[in-house]
Amino acid sequence: MSTTFFEKPVVTRTSANPLGLKGIDHIEFIVDQADAWRDFFTGKYGMSVRAYGDAGSGLQGRRAWVVGQGRVNFLLAEPQGRGPEADFMRGHLDRHGCGVRDVAFRVKDARRAFAEAQRRGATAARGLYEDAAIVHGAIAAYGDTVHSFVERRRHGEFGPGYVNQPGGIDDRDINFAMIDHVVANVEHMDPWVRYYQEVFGFDLYMHFDINTGRSALMSKVVSSTDGWVKMPINEPSSANSQIQEFLDQYRGPGVQHIALLTPDIVATIEEMRRMGQEFLDVPDSYYDGEFDKRVGQIDEDKDLLKALRILVDRDTDDGYLLQLFTKCVFTRPTLFFEVIQRRGNSLGFGEGNFRALFEAIEREQAKRGTL
Ligand SMILES: [Fe+2]
Repeated sequence: MSTTFFEKPVVTRTSANPLGLKGIDHIEFIVDQADAWRDFFTGKYGMSVRAYGDAGSGLQGRRAWVVGQGRVNFLLAEPQGRGPEADFMRGHLDRHGCGVRDVAFRVKDARRAFAEAQRRGATAARGLYEDAAIVHGAIAAYGDTVHSFVERRRHGEFGPGYVNQPGGIDDRDINFAMIDHVVANVEHMDPWVRYYQEVFGFDLYMHFDINTGRSALMSKVVSSTDGWVKMPINEPSSANSQIQEFLDQYRGPGVQHIALLTPDIVATIEEMRRMGQEFLDVPDSYYDGEFDKRVGQIDEDKDLLKALRILVDRDTDDGYLLQLFTKCVFTRPTLFFEVIQRRGNSLGFGEGNFRALFEAIEREQAKRGTL
């Protein structure tokens, strides 16, 4: 087992926000069966159904559910009927399997953001749409992934062609407030780091070089200057890296994991496990010896964390994070989710847990025979 290096932060923070980003609006998944994935997220992730659309409500080539909790919105779209949109979505499914198409940002002014992004070197992926309720346009990002800019002029509805669904009261033990970070796997990270710096005005925030001896990756984290949008970008640094396996299985760059921020990871993981969500295996030995020295004083009961297999990483003197990773959710071993809680001044991504995560992922890889 060799070393894990990390440094932070690697550049001076600026205060630029040239596109007027306000955070992540929603994440769009292109899936094989929208109903089945709606049931998955409502059943195992405590999400509520928020909106639905199909040809009958004015959508072209798709039927789609919006599910969510807090400020987390997932758009789950499957192709329907014929036409360019349906054909595009079928092509996306054939190539990638189920996966993320759009990491959509909320902006103050979508027309301005869309024009400014292109002026800064981005390529348009979808033209500008504008009505009394919403304005949006999209630019190309890594692989077939795009970033929409969404300006909401009228609140309380998802968009044209989507009909609100009754969702009830959000009072379950699974508690997600927002998306903490979205991670990309790419072949070469530096051009994409530059893309987020030049187009979005993001800061390069951290740099990891991780080598577990059998598998390796490098990662750079870009972040909006207010810190609310954080996007680690990974590249493989060995042929059998889990990042390379993703690139092979997804057939190109894409979203590797989405971290959901919770104020109560113990209750959330307890309930997700009860609902049948599977998480990566964490060995007993993770909680022995080094654990106490590495994480120091924490508020949570260690035996409870061990029973639920929750990982802990101290990243500052006055802050630590708790996290756990799901198993890959789709048929291909590509995308997974992370549940994360931050305590105090926690700024990291679980660097100290990378090795534990790697060991866990590699056990899964070994079972699949790809290591
Ligand atoms: Fe993460």
